Amino acid sequence: MSISCVVGARPNFIKIAPLITEMQRRGLEFRLIHTGQHYDSVMNDVFFDQLEIPLPDINLAIGSASHGQQTGEALIKLEQDFVDHKPDMVVVVGDVNSTLAGALAATKLNIPVAHIEAGYRSFDRTMPEEINRVIVDHISDYLFAPTNDAVENLQAEGISADKIFHVGNIMAETLLRNMEKISKRGKPQDMDLRPQGYAVATLHRPENTDNIERLSSILSAFSKSPLPIIMPLHPRTKQAINEHGLGHMLNGRLRITEAMPYIDILSLVQNARLVLTDSGGLQEEACVLQVPCITIRDNTERMATISVGANRLVPADQDKILETLLDVIEHHSTKWKTPELWDVCVSQRIVDIIRDALLRNARKNQEVAFNGVA
Ligand code: UD1
Repeated sequence: MSISCVVGARPNFIKIAPLITEMQRRGLEFRLIHTGQHYDSVMNDVFFDQLEIPLPDINLAIGSASHGQQTGEALIKLEQDFVDHKPDMVVVVGDVNSTLAGALAATKLNIPVAHIEAGYRSFDRTMPEEINRVIVDHISDYLFAPTNDAVENLQAEGISADKIFHVGNIMAETLLRNMEKISKRGKPQDMDLRPQGYAVATLHRPENTDNIERLSSILSAFSKSPLPIIMPLHPRTKQAINEHGLGHMLNGRLRITEAMPYIDILSLVQNARLVLTDSGGLQEEACVLQVPCITIRDNTERMATISVGANRLVPADQDKILETLLDVIEHHSTKWKTPELWDVCVSQRIVDIIRDALLRNARKNQEVAFNGVA
């Protein structure tokens, strides 16, 4: 019985790490396939090192391209890999283009697909990730949902209940398992920061980076913040700031750094007063770390972080961002209950279900072969 796991982008690496450890612990045979969607050392190698993920069995080196080209290339190469290695199941995680390509290639070959982080919905079809999520969920056979609202979304779309499993949030498991390293890391040497005396910001979504009005409005709010804001830059954001000629806005309280490795950024977040972000994962990580989050988007698929009181949505508007930032600094209590099953047993629940499914499928195939012979 062999399982092919597909990863491609930074958040995928974070989500696959505990699953790999659990499969190793239980002696399950697996093949780790990296599409190569993310390739820069800071977006890729350091995550594998810090999260102690084994080197991929293959890197398909698809790199950056338009959505169609990137997904198409991953689809062609993944299909070939599945044909060559004949996995009994394909596991995909999250909502990036590599996730879609993996699920599509597998399902067309009639290989069962398991989707980790199923059921999240922003209900915004202009987001590439939303398209990926919806398609992947509708072609997957085992849907591992992180929250109750994700389960409800899947049920509302008519997906049969026997495919849906509420297992909790694997990103939370990765974070909890790395908590000791995160707490020990301490603040960066070259930054004069006191605990709770600064904010951490990240920005990488095309709707914020590729629109000059939105991007300048956000940067302007950050530069006027009453607290220093540390902003590690995603390569796309760095490119957008250069292309739009907005380098002069990186001033005032805003301090930029290179993109940061996993342990380093979470250590920074752990000691921050608040987080400002458009990332999906960071909304959840801030929630687990009991750090208030302001999400600079019109919607979020991570509704549980809002309902427990850890996260607020704010449009990309300078005044609204500043107003919310001040309100969070003055009033936001940093105590909430993290959502149900965001614990260290998520990978164990998933592997239990995967292993049972593989055994069931193997028995069924044996019966078919036996009946065929008879
Ligand atoms: C992808 C995911 C997004 C996720 C993000 C995490 C999709 C549709 N989007 O977005 O959901 O939140 O990863 O980072 O899959 N680049 C580099 N080096 C790299 C990778 C990217 O310089 O290693 C630059 C390139 O200019 C590239 C751009 O970043 O064109 C965007 O990369 P891409 O993989 O297309 O999407 P992300 O924005 O990273």
